[in-house]
Amino acid sequence: MTKHKVTLIPGEGIGPEVAVATRRILEAAGVQIEWEEIAGRSDNSSDQGKSVNQAAVESVRRNRVALKGPMATAIAGGAPSVNVALRKTLDLYANLRPVKNVPGVKSHFENVDLILVRENTEDLYSGLEHEVVPGVVESLKIITEKASTRIAKFAFEYAKRHGRKKIHAIHKANIMKLSDGLFLKSVRVIAAKFPAIEYKELIVDNACMQIVMDPLQFDMLLLPNLYGDVMSDLAAGLVGGLGVVPSANIGDECAMFEAVHGTAPDIAGKGLANPTALLMSAALMLDHLGEQKTAQRIQSALEKVYREGKRTTRDVGGKAGTEEFADAVITALKQK
Ligand code: NAI
Repeated sequence: MTKHKVTLIPGEGIGPEVAVATRRILEAAGVQIEWEEIAGRSDNSSDQGKSVNQAAVESVRRNRVALKGPMATAIAGGAPSVNVALRKTLDLYANLRPVKNVPGVKSHFENVDLILVRENTEDLYSGLEHEVVPGVVESLKIITEKASTRIAKFAFEYAKRHGRKKIHAIHKANIMKLSDGLFLKSVRVIAAKFPAIEYKELIVDNACMQIVMDPLQFDMLLLPNLYGDVMSDLAAGLVGGLGVVPSANIGDECAMFEAVHGTAPDIAGKGLANPTALLMSAALMLDHLGEQKTAQRIQSALEKVYREGKRTTRDVGGKAGTEEFADAVITALKQK
């Protein structure tokens, strides 16, 4: 069996708790991983941990794969997000968010099976903001042909590899004719090279309405950064929220798999956190590493625990703590 070397960034708040549980489950599943555990944030006292830990960047570059827990970010002011900085430094340009029902988790819809691919490096997240005069700020939306083309390629190649049938490109090119217009133009060039995959376009506001009315009409969504950020959380809400969806940030050189929820300071350190999102992200990571069978076994064990509904965590209406839930998944794995 191949031994994989993976960088583990446990993160902050509930991060270390869910990381320990996830690691235990992966070990019980028999997958051979040598973890290189490392802090995501700089421990340089002169910058007070505001920046990315260079050692983490080097570790991910070396191992090419990372599993990451959440890290806190200040809102409106303060240091820039370490999460965003890591994605940018490592050029993890594709955010992949599979959204699927977990049996037994309450949701408004059943049989949802969506893949969202979000451009991760530019758009309004370029961080180019300035105050023009007091009371007026300008925030620049950057869209390039290069980034739009590579995210489109990623999405269509993913669709081809995973037997997906249809991609909707989401935009607002009726208003932002140049920027979203360039995004669409670039996507169309790539779409034409994949005639077996149905290609459609939808304006973002209409897409939001359509997806909450009938998510089953969609297969894959391809989105620029901002719409992708909003719609991927919206999509998670269709199946029970951020606690039950995995996420990956993928580049040409390396990939980082992470839970999309935050550090949950209200429950941190209490042993109450639900490790499902990080575990599902770890399963996505195993899929990426070529360990599809183990990924599937973990997913099935997880679903069994949810279907039985006896040892789930409080956020989904159960009573179990993090470790008890992890034990239940391990028991389910061994019953297989
Ligand atoms: P949050 O996701 O940390 O918490 C929102 C609510 O969901 C809380 O009630 C929390 O207890 C609950 N929750 C979240 N994850 C849970 C889990 N695994 N199990 C059980 N309950 C869970 O969002 P919030 O409060 O907006 O952010 C807190 C901090 O996390 C902020 O500093 C924020 O910047 C950061 N954050 C980091 C992210 C990342 O590293 N990718 C993503 C989102 C937020």
